[in-house]
Order: sequence, then structure tokens, then C-alpha cells
Amino acid sequence: MAKWQVARRRPNVDLVLDLAIIGVEDHMSRRSALPLHPQQGHFLFEQEDSLASDPTPPGSEVDPAVLFDALSDNFLSYYGTVRGIVRREVIRSNLGRYLAPCQPLRILDVGCGEGLDALWLVQCGYHVTGIDPSEKMLNAARQRASRLRPTDRRRLDLRVADDRKVLKVFGANSFDVILCHGVIMYQADPESFVANLSSVLRPHGILSLVTKNAGALAYRSAAERQFDDARRLLSSGGKSVGRLGVETKGHTMPELCALLEKHSLKTEHWFGVRVFSDSLSDSLTVKGLQELVELESAASCVDPYRHSARLLQAVATKRPRSIHNS
Ligand SMILES: C[S@@+](CC[C@H](N)C(=O)[O-])C[C@H]1O[C@@H](n2cnc3c(N)ncnc32)[C@H](O)[C@@H]1O
Repeated sequence: MAKWQVARRRPNVDLVLDLAIIGVEDHMSRRSALPLHPQQGHFLFEQEDSLASDPTPPGSEVDPAVLFDALSDNFLSYYGTVRGIVRREVIRSNLGRYLAPCQPLRILDVGCGEGLDALWLVQCGYHVTGIDPSEKMLNAARQRASRLRPTDRRRLDLRVADDRKVLKVFGANSFDVILCHGVIMYQADPESFVANLSSVLRPHGILSLVTKNAGALAYRSAAERQFDDARRLLSSGGKSVGRLGVETKGHTMPELCALLEKHSLKTEHWFGVRVFSDSLSDSLTVKGLQELVELESAASCVDPYRHSARLLQAVATKRPRSIHNS
């Protein structure tokens, strides 16, 4: 049974953090069958301990389309939680540093899910293609996209596809920027996954990749007093079962840099996403949430804090082919 926590509604419209954009209000309306708090002026945050099901191992044995179709309702709930909001806002503020404003950038969002990042980027003026193998996730994105202004809608292309199709469908060097947030850890073959992404990124183009931090897996279990689990995770080789009940395989930063480098991607910078709030389940006022996002954004690039974050975000550039290997 889901538990619910209550936070006060933002007192005015001047707050930097736009909860409508990040999806809290949508999340609430989709869940309208659930009891909303009778008091005015409160948001409800679902705690995710209701989301776990039987563990499912990464990628190979399960088709991602089938897996994410089955998980879509649970995953969509996550976007409206404090953890989901912090993740999204920190990733965006880091990515924003690398996107030139007012440029007609061609962006590919691989595993776009519900399309929140893709929609945000078309609203920033870019041309965005979102691909996802899950019809259900993509339908949620399409539904959301139907509310865009027609000028923004025209710059958005949503397709059912996975990474294996990108080269054939789009051709080499067809994107200036690729986003791949929270997808690689589900892949049975991360090597070929990264190769596929790299194949459609133009030379000097930017990849923003988010994965689970294999060097910090035990913190959550320890914070939640699951000490046996925490101990096991110290030597799990990056494997863990998240709140969705799916086994994933995270990376350490050196592993990730080496993997990217093999495919001509040079890591320019990396960030730790969710340093302090991974197990935060207290209710928060909107002001508190805003302060937390600011704290997390600042900590995401500060040593040693970023090393202990739940997620890693690498920003890499594609090396041009040298005359020696062309
Ligand atoms: C955890 S969700 C992340 C969604 C979104 N990127 C975000 O950050 O909110 C992972 C998504 O990746 C998609 N996915 C899984 N394997 C994929 C693959 N091989 N290629 C493209 N998308 C994939 C799933 O269907 C799912 O929608």
C-alpha cells in the first residue's frame, strides 16, 4: 500500500522551480483515483517503497519494450517524487551548461521514457528526436506532447525504437547532442549500446549519459537500515536491484570513462546526481524542495561529495576521426 507525504503548495508563482514543467501536477492528476489530501495548498509525494516487485535481471533475458511496458506505471509515479524531481533538475542544470542557446541543435534522447527532457528541450527551441522501445512510455510522451504549442510540437519527433536502430534510421553524424539518462544500466551489452550512440553523434557533438554509481550502491541500503544488503552491495560488482525491482548494472566513473573512450567519446566533466537526498522521505515544503535542488546542484560538481551520489552524469564529446584511423 502506498504511503503519502504532504508538502505545502508553492506560495506564489515566482519560484524558479516550475513544478508544472517537472510533472508533479500531471502525476497527481493521473493518480486522481488515489485520495488527495483534503487540505488546500498541499502537494502529495508518493514514497516508492510500494514499487518493488520480483527482481528482474538486466537487459538480456527481457526485452526492454516488454519490461518497460510492464513497469511504466511504476516508473511514471517516480517522476513526481522528491527523488525524481531532484534527479531531473540536477541533470538539467548540468546539461544546460553545454547547450548553446539560440542554436538549432539536433538532439536525440535515447530511452526518452515519458519525454519530460525531450519536451523541455523543444520548449528551449531545439529540434528533438525521442526514441523508446516501450509503447506505453512513448504514449505517455505523446499525450504530454499534445499539450505543446504547435511551433514547439513541430520540432519534436517521437518514435518507437531502441538503440540498435539508430544508425540505420538516422545515419552517421546526424545529431549534435545525445541524451541517454537512466538507460545504460539496464543494458546487457553496454559496449554495443555506447557504440550505437556514438555512431550517430557528429564529431565534437555532446553526449550526456546518466548511470547508477557503482561506487555508492550501499549508502541507500545502509540509510534504510538494510545492513545485510548494504554489506552485500559493497562487493556486488555494480549490480543492484532498485526500487522498481529490476536488477541493474551501474558503473564507476573510471569504468564509464574507459567505456566511452573506446567509442571515441572523451569525458569532459562528470557530476554526482543525488548526493544527499537519495533516501530522503520527509515531507518538504516547496521552498524546502527548491533549496534541496539548489544544494544538490551545487554538490553535484564538488569533491568529495559527488563521489557518493546515487547516480553519475558524464558529459562527453565525440572525438573527430583522425587521418590515421580514417
Ligand atoms: C529509467 S527510464 C528513463 C527515462 C528517461 N530517459 C528519464 O531520464 O526519465 C529508461 C527508459 O529506457 C528505455 N530503454 C530501455 N532499453 C533501451 C534501449 N536499448 N534503447 C532505447 N531505450 C531503451 C525504456 O523503455 C525506458 O523508457
